Amino acid sequence: MLIVLLGAPGVGKGTQAQILTQRYGLMRLATGDLLREEIAAGSELGRRVQAVMGRGELVSDAIIADLVRQRLDGAAAGRGVVFDGFPRTVAQAQLLEQLLHDLGRRRLDAVIQIDLPTEEIVRRISGRRSCTHCGALYHIEDHPPRSAGRCDRCGAQLVLREDDRPEVVAERLRVYHQHTALLLKFYQNGSHLVAVDGDGTVEEVSQRIQQALTAAT
Ligand code: AP5
Repeated sequence: MLIVLLGAPGVGKGTQAQILTQRYGLMRLATGDLLREEIAAGSELGRRVQAVMGRGELVSDAIIADLVRQRLDGAAAGRGVVFDGFPRTVAQAQLLEQLLHDLGRRRLDAVIQIDLPTEEIVRRISGRRSCTHCGALYHIEDHPPRSAGRCDRCGAQLVLREDDRPEVVAERLRVYHQHTALLLKFYQNGSHLVAVDGDGTVEEVSQRIQQALTAAT
């Protein structure tokens, strides 16, 4: 199964991608997580992208292309992939088609666009806490950890992401809307683009995605 999850910052792509990964045994390819790993490792790439991400802008298509090429090897992709936060531009969508073709894989099974009102996006992002070690996601009101500031799964520290400050979130939303119309147009011509309402509990949204996948595959 090859699935793309689209949607504005904070709509729940990462949360739903983790559920799909477990349910179907898929590989998750989340470009935001890969970039944050590079920053945490202090790599040259990490140093190049840190300021860009800190401003809420998109990292260049060339950097993303290298990153995705390295991670999308044939064996792992054979189990199926859920793409989270990628593609974000038409150039990236075209790159994905080319990479899947090179791997001898069929086309995408579903492109799922998660929709959510901006007010709820801001509420979710401001309450998000992420595990520095295993990447588990929490929300201080909706899904708090059992022990404040510590991950239930691995005990590591939970943090507010650098780019979750209100002024950066506003820029991330602006950038998202700037690129989305063209990307949706690209996917309307050919792929199984489905819009899913992202409002409701994690389980409710997951069920809607499940229904959309059943209809699309
Ligand atoms: P990235 O890491 O991809 O972030 P994003 O797309 O902005 O999305 P988020 O991770 O903020 O949110 P999400 O939709 O995954 O929501 P989540 O599940 O966490 O990108 C970060 C930056 O990296 C970009 O700005 C850019 O600079 C760069 N970048 C990355 N990919 C790139 C690319 N391809 N090209 C160029 N640049 C790129 O949920 C949010 C919160 O809500 C959590 O607390 C969660 O617990 C909670 N929650 C989730 N679902 C629910 C629910 N149903 N009810 C209540 N709470 C919920």
